Amino acid sequence: MAVLSFMLISFYLLFSYSKVFAAADTITSSQNLTDGKTLISNIGSFELGFFSPGKSSNRYLGMWYKNIPVQTIVWVANRQKPIKDLSGLLLINSSTGNLVLSQNKNIVWAATLKRKAQNPVLQLLDSGNLVLREANDENSENFIWQSFDYPSDTLLPGMKLGKDFRSCLDRQVTAWKNQYDPSLGNLTWAMKVNSYPEPFMWQGSKKVFRSGPWNGVQYSGKPTFRPHPIFDFRYFNDGNEVYYMILLVNKSKIARMTVNQTTNSQHHLVWLEKKQSWDRLASVPRDFCDSYGACGPNGNCDIKKVPSCECLRGFQSKSPERWNALDYSEGCVRNKLLNCKNDGFVKYIGMKVPDTTNSWLNKSMTRNECREECLNNCSCMAYTNSDIRDGGSGCVMWFDDLNDLRVQPDAGQDLYVRVPSSELENNNGVKWKIRVIVGSASVIILGMLFVLCYRYRSRKNQKDYGSMLGYTSKEQKEDLELPLFDLSKIATATDHFSMDNKLGEGGFGPVYKGKLEDGQVIAVKRLSRSSGQGLSEFKNEVILIAKLQHRNLVTLLGCCIKDEEKLLVYEYMPNKSLDSFIFDQTQRILLVWSRRHHIICGIARGLLYLHQDSRLRIIHRDIKASNILLDSEMNPKISDFGLARTFGGDQSAANTERVVGTYGYMAPEYAMDGNFSAKSDVFSFGILLMEIITGKKNSGFYSYNDSLNLVEYAWNLWREERPLELIDEFIKETCNLSEVRRFIHISLLCLEQHPQDRPSMSSVVLMLGSDAVLPQLRQPGFFIGEHLHGGSSSQFTNSSPSINGLSITVLDAR
Ligand SMILES: *[C@@H]1O[C@H](CO)[C@@H](O)[C@H](O)[C@H]1NC(C)=O
Ligand SMILES: *[C@@H]1O[C@H](CO)[C@@H](O)[C@H](O)[C@H]1NC(C)=O
Ligand SMILES: *[C@@H]1O[C@H](CO)[C@@H](O)[C@H](O)[C@H]1NC(C)=O
Ligand SMILES: *[C@@H]1O[C@H](CO)[C@@H](O)[C@H](O)[C@H]1NC(C)=O
Ligand SMILES: *[C@@H]1O[C@H](CO)[C@@H](O)[C@H](O)[C@H]1NC(C)=O
Ligand SMILES: *[C@@H]1O[C@H](CO)[C@@H](O)[C@H](O)[C@H]1NC(C)=O
Ligand SMILES: *[C@@H]1O[C@H](CO)[C@@H](O)[C@H](O)[C@H]1NC(C)=O
Repeated sequence: MAVLSFMLISFYLLFSYSKVFAAADTITSSQNLTDGKTLISNIGSFELGFFSPGKSSNRYLGMWYKNIPVQTIVWVANRQKPIKDLSGLLLINSSTGNLVLSQNKNIVWAATLKRKAQNPVLQLLDSGNLVLREANDENSENFIWQSFDYPSDTLLPGMKLGKDFRSCLDRQVTAWKNQYDPSLGNLTWAMKVNSYPEPFMWQGSKKVFRSGPWNGVQYSGKPTFRPHPIFDFRYFNDGNEVYYMILLVNKSKIARMTVNQTTNSQHHLVWLEKKQSWDRLASVPRDFCDSYGACGPNGNCDIKKVPSCECLRGFQSKSPERWNALDYSEGCVRNKLLNCKNDGFVKYIGMKVPDTTNSWLNKSMTRNECREECLNNCSCMAYTNSDIRDGGSGCVMWFDDLNDLRVQPDAGQDLYVRVPSSELENNNGVKWKIRVIVGSASVIILGMLFVLCYRYRSRKNQKDYGSMLGYTSKEQKEDLELPLFDLSKIATATDHFSMDNKLGEGGFGPVYKGKLEDGQVIAVKRLSRSSGQGLSEFKNEVILIAKLQHRNLVTLLGCCIKDEEKLLVYEYMPNKSLDSFIFDQTQRILLVWSRRHHIICGIARGLLYLHQDSRLRIIHRDIKASNILLDSEMNPKISDFGLARTFGGDQSAANTERVVGTYGYMAPEYAMDGNFSAKSDVFSFGILLMEIITGKKNSGFYSYNDSLNLVEYAWNLWREERPLELIDEFIKETCNLSEVRRFIHISLLCLEQHPQDRPSMSSVVLMLGSDAVLPQLRQPGFFIGEHLHGGSSSQFTNSSPSINGLSITVLDAR
């Protein structure tokens, strides 16, 4: 009997508890929500209430994740009208049935209802949707109002982005002004509806980025992993409604899309439970070619080329002077007018198709019909399939200028561009090239040819070099010392390359932390698939790299090759990379001068080994703080060496999500002409040395008084004989000032404009370690032509195309 009553009581408690709990996600018209109270969705994923963003004291009604500790606001009601005190009140007005937010009887915000409700209730759903509905009707079709129709700066899974022509809703996301002010910023992500709709990022009324239209598989200008580990991307268009949506592959993950005016980007983020932080899976725009119309009308942007802009075939730059000065805004015009009758098409492979504003679409036509239709209409400039699945279907044609084209090998599609038949005569393109050169006397194209020749030559040289050393594949089989790892073992060690184990994204692919069965901790570099290299070639290269052994180089433990997968297994460096120390407000304090001294000398020795002492004589080409790893005793170890040699040609393809980050380290001759040598590594070392001394990023430019960059700033202070002002305030007390002054001098020597004026790494090592008199300084290389007045930091923030053009072409110059 006692047991029974106990059970009854327990049942009662359980029941009433769940009732109480359930009630917390709903308000009826007799209830209200005051500041300090919140609504919590049924299973506790979201919470609605009043909040103040950051240091601001303004109060807003908003929604955030209930179950994560970092306050992340996903929706705000009164974005434009903050409440200045704690008197905010949310209720359903019993006479109008509307949802109203008021402050002392003054209405601050009100919902826009589709119709008047009889018996309305407000409910916060577990999807993060705040809905006003009839108390007895939970059908989502019948919601009277929902917050999903009025996004703030965040798109949650299941939310639509796009237009509904019946209800005239245009669902778009608009960035906050800044992290303390949710009012409408000027960065918007919205669907532009034309015959072939596509999402754009706008800055005010200016287009800044375009993801390209949906081609049945993805957006042609925005490569995504397929299958994507986190998101499922949807696109829907039935004439009444056109929208884009993200859904979660695994509902237990927390992920979102947002636009941020501070970073000037759109981000896809996922919550990492283990790290307790948000991880940026992907951000756009990524590079120069992503900025809208980077190469102007009829220009084609290829990030792998130097320079990146090229006119389409049959076109020439409209204003060669401006074009050669890296101002591409005027774009290209036809060499020869179309004669309409005898035209043909040039096929471009792997393209982000042009802006679809002036396009025409028929979903049922085939490609041949499309070609005919385009040929028959004299104003049709290009065509392609609108859906690339199953060999392609549908027809999209473009009229007038072709805008915002770029090469996008991993997401793009074929594009057929109309040219007069005379342009097609010579398919191997040699005659065509010569004609263009003669025609436009374009220095840039000559330069490009030069780079191409150079590349070809250097590739040839590399081969010759290899055979000179006698590395035939036969010999390699004999001394294969490098352990080959089993893919399944590595998959287990890294928990199937889980996001939680991702350490970062390097130049050639993501890096994961893993733990082998025997307990050894490893770092696994997963090389991007498109590196386009044969297996035996890859193996040979890896074996060569593995032979590079030096205490200031990261040790390669082995590799793994299986089908498409190519993995490199390295020793794990518990202290991560140097940039996480020198540029971090709290960590940098740990780097007292003696440690920095040790690190500087270690890097110099490692680099000297690569340049001179190793059998391969490797030019690193990407020396920067994030490529210097630190072991448990803070010994520096250079990473990613040898990869440029192996994968250099495909680096940009290898990592499309990569941000523009290494611009600040590039030597001017490498930036301008793609010429690299050991001396360009010396230049990068000089930058790194300066960064270690100052604790400032060269690429963070703007804050250095009136200087262009850190190097110029340093040079100015040096000339004014005030070099000690450069020193990081955190080391001033622990350092030997004359020694640091000497290091600044060495750094400036490494930064000389002309490669021949820079010391070799062996001289650098000598100078670092002795008191010998140092050579006089001439002119550091921060003047990379007149047009470089700024630079891009790790994000795409500057809007002047020439600047970013330079910075990006620099990045991928090989
Ligand atoms: C809000 O609700 C509380 C009780 O739930 C009530 O005491 C209060 O008067 C209400 N405030 C307004 C302004 O309706
Ligand atoms: C409800 O709305 C009506 C009409 O706008 C207004 O007169 C009334 O004061 C509102 N009631 C409340 C409780 O806000
Ligand atoms: C935008 O990004 C910056 C830098 O990552 C971050 O500090 C800020 O909180 C973000 N802004 C918003 C509104 O989330
Ligand atoms: C966008 O807003 C920011 C800050 O509010 C401002 O600095 C910038 O000039 C604006 N850009 C445009 C294109 O309006
Ligand atoms: C979804 O994620 C959770 C937690 O990360 C995991 O436990 C579960 O196995 C995943 N489910 C699937 C189907 O992958
Ligand atoms: C699309 O093309 C098909 C096949 O050529 C044609 O029958 C149809 O009328 C076209 N639709 C439109 C809207 O032009
Ligand atoms: C070419 O196509 C456009 C768009 O469909 C149309 O407006 C124009 O009349 C066509 N021109 C000719 C000559 O068919």
